[in-house]
Amino acid sequence: MNSIEISTRPFTDQQPGTSGLRKKVQVFQQPHYLENFVQSIFNSLRHYRDKTLVVGGDGRYYNRHAVQVILRMAAANGFGKVLVGRGGLLSTPAASNLIRKYEAFGGIILSASHNPAGENGDFGIKYNIDNGGPAPEKITAAIHAASLTIDRYLTLDSRDIDLDTVGTQRLGDMQVEVVDAVADYAELMQTLFDFDRIHALINSGLFSMRFDAMHAITGPYAVEILENRLGVTPDTLLNCTPREDFGGGHPDPNLVYAKDLVDIMFTSQAPDFGAASDGDGDRNMILGRNCFITPSDSLAVLAANAHLTPGYRRGIAGIARSMPTSQAADRVAEKLGIELFETPTGWKFFGNLLDAGRVTLCGEESFGTGSAHVREKDGLWAVLFWLNLLAVRRESVADIISSHWQTYGRNYYSRHDYEAVDADGAGQLMARLRELNGNLKGKHFGGREVAYGDDFAYVDPIDGSSSERQGVRIGFNDGSRIVFRLSGTGTRGATLRVYLERYEADRALQHLDAQQALADLIRAAGEIARIPHYTGRDAPSVIT
Ligand code: G1P
Ligand code: ZN
Repeated sequence: MNSIEISTRPFTDQQPGTSGLRKKVQVFQQPHYLENFVQSIFNSLRHYRDKTLVVGGDGRYYNRHAVQVILRMAAANGFGKVLVGRGGLLSTPAASNLIRKYEAFGGIILSASHNPAGENGDFGIKYNIDNGGPAPEKITAAIHAASLTIDRYLTLDSRDIDLDTVGTQRLGDMQVEVVDAVADYAELMQTLFDFDRIHALINSGLFSMRFDAMHAITGPYAVEILENRLGVTPDTLLNCTPREDFGGGHPDPNLVYAKDLVDIMFTSQAPDFGAASDGDGDRNMILGRNCFITPSDSLAVLAANAHLTPGYRRGIAGIARSMPTSQAADRVAEKLGIELFETPTGWKFFGNLLDAGRVTLCGEESFGTGSAHVREKDGLWAVLFWLNLLAVRRESVADIISSHWQTYGRNYYSRHDYEAVDADGAGQLMARLRELNGNLKGKHFGGREVAYGDDFAYVDPIDGSSSERQGVRIGFNDGSRIVFRLSGTGTRGATLRVYLERYEADRALQHLDAQQALADLIRAAGEIARIPHYTGRDAPSVIT
């Protein structure tokens, strides 16, 4: 079957953000929009002829259509084979695993993560390289450059592939293999964690839990792993049938958007353990009875206890966290005598460190935790890791975190988001902070003295590439800090993120409400950045 060439004209807005290209569905539905971006990906790559590509997505509206488009274009562009999850579905970590396991050339993941889905929601697409991780900036920049000069794309005039039957089909000269989306991933989890021990805990009669898939991709993964292999009862699993519109919800596992689960967990009769994952399965939230574990603390606890699981029993090489993530993990790294890396926001910055074997665990405050087992953050992996710790330690989640703070101290932490504010105002706020921050040293805010102010820049220790302007940091003399940055994943206006952190070594003061414990810093942040003035908002829209 011959490929056909379609002429097109560039779109000027195809610059990938923190995690691929995310736009409203209607933007993707413009004629040639998706095709231009896919061809721009291929145009930025070399030597993929006859190689394998992995394709799948989080199942949101437009996923099925996009998979068919990509299959035809991959065939027309000369790929030898595409591995696609049944129904066009793959969680982000499962896609990363397939790329690695089957030594694919790369993968295309269709996801806008936790952003709302449906005809009026968001859609997204990103390219992952052969290590299974998000393309580094060098490649995303090349894709963007290609999108600005594109004048044609290649496709086939062919029927749709049957995506619902596992097996191999042909599309032109290319093989399409529809694979079970869950099996390889479940197998990988079984190599990392002690399923027998977790099974014993779950079936001990002394333990109860809930897992909320938020109507998104992790549903089938949770059914196979938690129910079929680990024996939880079906009523343990909430919202596990994926829907194209994610049930009209916002599948971001945090205290605001996973409210149903939070309500279940904050009662005296609550289950022992609660967890949720996001739209594409890479984020996680961990809860105990009346207890919320911040993602930054979760990373620190996993690092401190990794030796209790089969997959990490020989210890971990190092830890990486994104800059705005709290410094709780730093204290664990220090105690373990291992390296700690501070990277810019976004999982793509962990890839080189993982590939070089310098780190084993990675985490972001934005409910992302993961390890060297894939090159994406991994929601269910984090849930299984916690279950493994609970099965070994036989303590409550609340007791585990309290004893962690007793040993290491507590890093009070919170993120305040001002979502969908006016982009010009947000830009001015950041510009003013960048001007100010060099002159803040020595100034006082709410009883604290500013020790430094800078704009975070990162030089990758493996390949020497540098990334500037990654967030304004203001540090105080007592070690507390405030970080300001603008989101790179939003699709409406701008989102200002304010990250607040303060360390508390005194055991008697480690059980305050985080917002109260951070009240002075929250006030200082508003004052320094003049947030109401530039955003028109008196309060954040989301607090995590
Ligand atoms: C957000 C998070 C970031 C995460 C990214 C993709 O990016 O803050 O940690 O890697 O989503 O899940 P942001 O919108 O802040 O650019
Ligand atoms: Zn996600």
